[in-house]
Amino acid sequence: QRVHRIAVIPGDGIGTEVMPEGLRVLQAAAERFGIGLAFDHFDFACWPYYERHGQMLPDDWRERIGGHDAIFFGAVGWPAKIPDHVSLWGSLLQFRRAFDQYVNLRPARLMPGVRSPLVRRDGTPRAPGEIDMLIVRENTEGEYSSIGGRMFEGTERELVVQETVMTRHGVDRVLRYAFELARSRPRKHLTSATKSNGIAITMPYWDERVRAMAAAYPDVQVDQYHIDILTAHFVQRPEAFDVVVASNLFGDILSDLAPACTGTIGIAPSANLNPERRYPSLFEPVHGSAPDIAGRGIANPIGQIWSGALMLDFLGYRQAHDAIVRAIEVVLDPANGGPRTPDLGGHARTADVGRAVADALRHGA
Ligand code: NAD
Ligand code: IPM
Ligand code: MN
Repeated sequence: QRVHRIAVIPGDGIGTEVMPEGLRVLQAAAERFGIGLAFDHFDFACWPYYERHGQMLPDDWRERIGGHDAIFFGAVGWPAKIPDHVSLWGSLLQFRRAFDQYVNLRPARLMPGVRSPLVRRDGTPRAPGEIDMLIVRENTEGEYSSIGGRMFEGTERELVVQETVMTRHGVDRVLRYAFELARSRPRKHLTSATKSNGIAITMPYWDERVRAMAAAYPDVQVDQYHIDILTAHFVQRPEAFDVVVASNLFGDILSDLAPACTGTIGIAPSANLNPERRYPSLFEPVHGSAPDIAGRGIANPIGQIWSGALMLDFLGYRQAHDAIVRAIEVVLDPANGGPRTPDLGGHARTADVGRAVADALRHGA
């Protein structure tokens, strides 16, 4: 049996609370489907490590996790102790770049028993599955660039610049991934988000590459929007979207907005993919370390658990992925009276939800 080596990095805050539940469910899936998983735990990429070492990662971090089959990540950031740009550029954003994880795939789906805060114009609520989109976020360039700087510091002429970088290679590869994904879905619909009226060099370039790529995918229906009005459409008719592709920053914003439209960001998963598998891909919830609720054992672990399902899918275990998602649906379905964390209106604790999903998975949901 092939054994997949998984690097486990819980990180900060609720990352350390949801990670054990993600692992619990992966373990249950491994047993049920006979998948070989070996977990290596790492204590870097968090504030306690920084406090001891003065940096977020050991110097040899690439050697230590670069040979793994995947990275299972919690969340990083503890702004009370360390500025976010230091902790994030010192860890997660390094992983995404060094391992060329240029696709950040973020599904958002209305699950059974989770109410969308959005009500249709006619007053009726939306049914499970009615909102079902896949956000494809460019994950290695764009607005998240390290080209720029600060000049004349402390003077009246103080100036800061940070350039947006789009390469043909970088834009085309993420668009190709998004078009292929759209082609594989029943609706075959792709939406691209830019801001080409105001940001008049990079954004029109992205649009141009979308049009060029679309020519190779005549079966995919393409819509292009400016990001500002697209956020309004997400709120007014979220069911209209299928695959949504966007630059690094716009994809980041849309991928908090979309799960909020489906009830809570606590359940949203993500896959930072190197589709060519030259490097390990990284799987993590969309949410952060949530300092406001950290340490209380009430974080929703479903985002972490679902991210584990995406990891198994990427490793080739589609059935195990589907079974985990079904187990999540069973636990969320009010008909089953399962535990719910406070973000879903319940009183359950993180571990109650993790155990319930693992049980539902074992009992063949
Ligand atoms: P956040 O996602 O941590 O929290 C936003 C809000 O959502 C908070 O009210 C929080 O309590 C709630 N929330 C988030 N996850 C939840 C869960 N699983 N269950 C229940 N409620 C949940 O975003 P933030 O407050 O902007 O950021 C906090 C820290 O996390 C910062 O340091 C930020 O940089 C970092 N961050 C890290 C990642 C990551 O590691 N990928 C992602 C986003 C933010
Ligand atoms: C995310 C996060 C990160 C991002 C932050 C923490 C740097 O918001 O994964 O969505 O912007 O990519
Ligand atoms: Mn984000």
